[in-house]
Amino acid sequence: MTEPAHRIVALDIVDGVARITMNHGQVNALGHELRRALSDALERLAGDPAVAGVLLLGQPQAFSAGADITEFNMPESGGAEMNSGPAGPDLRELVALVEDFPKPITAGITGVALGGGLELAMAAHARIASPTARLGLPEITLGLLPGAGGTGRLPRLVGPERALDMILTGKQVSAYDALTDGLVDALIEDPGSAEAVHWAAEYAATRAPLRTRDRTGSIAGAAAAPGTVSRLAADALRKAKDPYAAHAAIKAVSAGIEQSFDHGAVVEREKFEERVKSPESAAQRHLFTAERAARKPADLDPDAARTVRRAGVIGAGTMGGGITMALAAAGITVTVVEAERSALDRGLAQIEKNLAVSVSRGSRTQDDADALKSLITGSLDYADLAGADLVIEAAFEDLQVKQDIFATLDRHVGPECVLASNTSYLSIDMIAAGTVLPGRVLGMHFFSPANVMPLVEVVRGAATNAATLATGFTTARRIGKTPVVVRVCHGFVGNRMLEVRSFQAEQLLLEGALPGQVDAVLKDFGFRMGPFEMGDMAGLDIGWRNRKAEGRTAPTADALCEAGRFGQKTGRGYYAYDGRERRDDPEVEQLIRDVSRNLGIIRREISDHEILERLLFPMINEGARILAEGIAERAGDIDVIWAKGYNWPAYRGGPMWYASHTGIGYVADRLRFYAEQTADVTLLPAGFLAEDDVAVAAAPGLPG
Ligand code: CAA
Repeated sequence: MTEPAHRIVALDIVDGVARITMNHGQVNALGHELRRALSDALERLAGDPAVAGVLLLGQPQAFSAGADITEFNMPESGGAEMNSGPAGPDLRELVALVEDFPKPITAGITGVALGGGLELAMAAHARIASPTARLGLPEITLGLLPGAGGTGRLPRLVGPERALDMILTGKQVSAYDALTDGLVDALIEDPGSAEAVHWAAEYAATRAPLRTRDRTGSIAGAAAAPGTVSRLAADALRKAKDPYAAHAAIKAVSAGIEQSFDHGAVVEREKFEERVKSPESAAQRHLFTAERAARKPADLDPDAARTVRRAGVIGAGTMGGGITMALAAAGITVTVVEAERSALDRGLAQIEKNLAVSVSRGSRTQDDADALKSLITGSLDYADLAGADLVIEAAFEDLQVKQDIFATLDRHVGPECVLASNTSYLSIDMIAAGTVLPGRVLGMHFFSPANVMPLVEVVRGAATNAATLATGFTTARRIGKTPVVVRVCHGFVGNRMLEVRSFQAEQLLLEGALPGQVDAVLKDFGFRMGPFEMGDMAGLDIGWRNRKAEGRTAPTADALCEAGRFGQKTGRGYYAYDGRERRDDPEVEQLIRDVSRNLGIIRREISDHEILERLLFPMINEGARILAEGIAERAGDIDVIWAKGYNWPAYRGGPMWYASHTGIGYVADRLRFYAEQTADVTLLPAGFLAEDDVAVAAAPGLPG
């Protein structure tokens, strides 16, 4: 018998097992239509004597990706996707319906079971999964905690330690790990197959429905020793990207273990409703949407992309090595070309060392590392790039050097090969101008360490053609990066805005602040590091050399370098170092005071509030210029760049989101104030910030 109960849920009965197959949208998001359809189907099956058990299925790509995130943004809902009403049962009610169902329900997981999707599966009485399935509770990455009983049920299935790890990191686990941990009961290639139906029928015939909430074996130890949950969570809490959501989740898990499932459910609901309305979660949901929008840049035709099987990397330094590892990790054969044998050997040895570290940390198996290494070859000869589909240049940051390299590449690679530069500031148009086929040139600006940091600014030059853009973009996606398309200007989007911030940081020192105060303000805001700590880590001599070459100065930074203080590598920079341990250095304070005096600046007390605004608002202003010039397509693209490339705290949504949230009118007023205070006309509001109705305007593409 096959009988569609609802267009988004198919229902058939085989050997006494009712198969309910969810088929809604791309990922079976549990919006009200799907919830209603599932509850209708269950209601019909409850009293059907022909049905002994139920097998709940999804689609190959997704059992379900959880609650429908778009419903959280509905103004009247306030997270009310959880509330019942005419729209149908809320997710908690649906989950309760499943758990209390009089006949055993087996969830058959294919693709992903995430968030509310996994919570639905955990409410079933048994779970089978295909070996390729992935399971997780990623709510924390949206500034939330599981909201449909996940904080209570997961510890009851896998124990408190594994549960806290999954809930506080949001990471997905493989079907194999899920089986080992007890999150699933069996692996079956196709959970909708006859074999799976047989499994579910056996289960229904031999067992009464066992509710997950009643399983207490794996939490008994923690329940008897209050404080266990807080202890187990301490490390993850320290590392949590959203401490607000992490605290809330720990409270719910702890109540569900140390008191009761029902008490935990009450705490979970309270905390979920608080978090879903919080600015921190709204910011992270904005980033989720912005990241997906950035995957669809205007005029990008993914079908125009060439498949990259073989790649070349020019330069085996830190960036070249990182890019090589990222390409090889995605199965691409890479030839790394260096000018000198010693530099090549050093670069290859560093790659070996990085791989050994990841094996020793358990993030990679030895077999993986060996496979990756076998794809990498070093060479001193451009002729070895003859068969490459893509070459990424990561050489010294000098226009002439890069132009020479591209001219050499022209002579050695085929006409179809795409040529990318990893330059962080230079003009792709000037690099392309000297080549025979400028249409095949683009920028692929990676961030250090390139094998770890997700962002790639894909820089589209004036001549870059559709196939080149598509190849750069899709290759970046294929190697697991987050590409954002930008156009050519000095420093593109990220570094152009960073430069503005660095200038302000230097000004603040001259006017009266000290490095420790400035860094502390940005860390309180949520950055992992302040600008001066970051400078010390990267090495101050690089910027010094660039400034000298370009005839620019930065009085304090220059004075530090003249005193031989290049940062951590010399043990002295803005701070003094014992190993990595840093402390304030009275010598630096004196040096800064001397520089101010020599420039005739009367130092003053500067508030933390002013420091924050002076660092962030000029950046936002530069972002507005970038949008007005069309360098970035959308405000959200700028936010993704800062979140993925510069560790902008996700719960602050990115600079343009932050501006909208703070109030565009307020930001514009303060910029006018600082422009006057510092006699710096570049601080006058620009782009959309300068519009007349700015008090009610929002950054384009963002809510007001
Ligand atoms: N709700 C609404 N839409 C969703 C969604 C969700 N939970 N998950 C994915 N989508 C949408 C995406 O926005 C995208 O839409 P567009 O094509 O219009 O851009 C589409 O589905 C495909 O998604 P991706 O482009 O991300 O595809 P992918 O293959 O790269 O990744 C995925 C698929 C792993 C499911 C990924 O989309 C993902 O991680 N989704 C979010 C999962 C999540 O965070 N779930 C928790 C929700 S909160 C919750 O469930 C609270 C609770 O406890 C009740």
